[in-house]
Amino acid sequence: MSATNQNFLSSRFRITRVYMLTGVGFLGACWFFLIQAAESLSRGRWLDSSLLAAVHLFVIGYAMIVVHGAMLQIVPVAFQGRLYSIRLGYVQYALIVLGAVALPLGFLVDVWRIAAVGGLLLILSTVILLWNLGQTLRTLKKKGEALLLAAAFPFFFVTVLLGVSMSLGRFPAGEGTLPLHMMSGIVGWFTTLILLISPRLMGFFVSSRYKGLRKSGPGFLVLAGMAAVLAGEALKAGGRVAVSGGLSAAGWLLYLIGYAWVLVDLYRHFRHRRRREVEWVLKWILGGLYGGWPVVAAWAFASLGGLRENWAASGLLLSLLGFLQWNIGAFMAKILLFLRWMGRYGHGAAKDSSKRIPALQEMMPRRMTVVSLTGSAAGAVLLALGTGLGQGALTFSGAALGTAAWVLYGLALLIMYRR
Ligand code: HEM
Repeated sequence: MSATNQNFLSSRFRITRVYMLTGVGFLGACWFFLIQAAESLSRGRWLDSSLLAAVHLFVIGYAMIVVHGAMLQIVPVAFQGRLYSIRLGYVQYALIVLGAVALPLGFLVDVWRIAAVGGLLLILSTVILLWNLGQTLRTLKKKGEALLLAAAFPFFFVTVLLGVSMSLGRFPAGEGTLPLHMMSGIVGWFTTLILLISPRLMGFFVSSRYKGLRKSGPGFLVLAGMAAVLAGEALKAGGRVAVSGGLSAAGWLLYLIGYAWVLVDLYRHFRHRRRREVEWVLKWILGGLYGGWPVVAAWAFASLGGLRENWAASGLLLSLLGFLQWNIGAFMAKILLFLRWMGRYGHGAAKDSSKRIPALQEMMPRRMTVVSLTGSAAGAVLLALGTGLGQGALTFSGAALGTAAWVLYGLALLIMYRR
């Protein structure tokens, strides 16, 4: 391989690492503010400034930054093409980091216009990402499958536009604005994206005789389902309660069927895999995907009015800090170690051929990563229980456990980087 090609490859690997490690840093800040917000959570003070800061440090600082970094890698690699511009990737990085700082800052100093500016920076950064990926699309062999991912972006833009308008003191859907904002962000954007991308990635990581993972049917179902749910919520906000309930319920049904379909396909894919052994980190990714279905079903139940406010907030925390953190953390462990391995030993990059090259799955310390993933899930469960039951000691211990799990995840990454 020529030196130019090798340089291009290692800088492409580096950019995703920069995004992901930044995301891990923001996650630590999120847990820190959750410790501060533990008391408010147990007392039902949902608009506490530390809580708002923690939530947005998580969704933007951690989840969104990791997703942006992952897309710069996944789209060209999994859909077979070449990233258009790494430089644009760094411009987009600078904007998203500024946005991720401005958002919690605005909540903490109680000047929500700063949060609105953060939202605008985020929009700009995402438009640049889309443009970069759009140019990349021309080189892709699997254009159709990659385009399906783009269909999740409208949910993100709805979330941010609602967020910006709320930050400016405007509530376009009245009391329904915040629920719409939360639902389109957490389920419409992040969860849908995970459901669209996971089959593609698993097909890439594990070779199988089953070819059904590439079907777009489940993807269409979840997209249509979420569009119906949000339309139902918007109608409810407009006072058209009679139609809205049926539309939302039908939307949730489609969504849950689409999600279950993805799970069945994944099961069949793994059942017919060509090699018997399965890398440990993939089992954790699968665990997160299967565990997420009941969490989304609980969202559906809560949003149709089946849960009291404190239990709905508890479900929200479980979705964010349990389901999303687990899935993103597990995917990140897989992708980061792959990038590190490729950067250090792949494509003839190893400088000293006398040294033993570690196997890919030996790179990340397994026990530490597993304890960290389960620790953060247990922290999320305690936090959610404390919120539902109104128990300050429980919420506090959940936040403390989550923080300890984050420290462990950081240590695991550090060890991986030394291998
Ligand atoms: C995918 C991205 C996002 C997600 C998933 C999300 C999620 C949430 C959640 C769960 C809450 C409730 C927090 C609580 O009750 O303490 C919330 C509230 C809020 N968010 Fe976001 N958010 C996102 C992006 C944004 C952005 C970009 C902005 C601003 C530009 C924003 C502005 C707000 C505001 C102002 C509130 C409080 C609303 C009120 O007064 O009731 N959000 N968001």
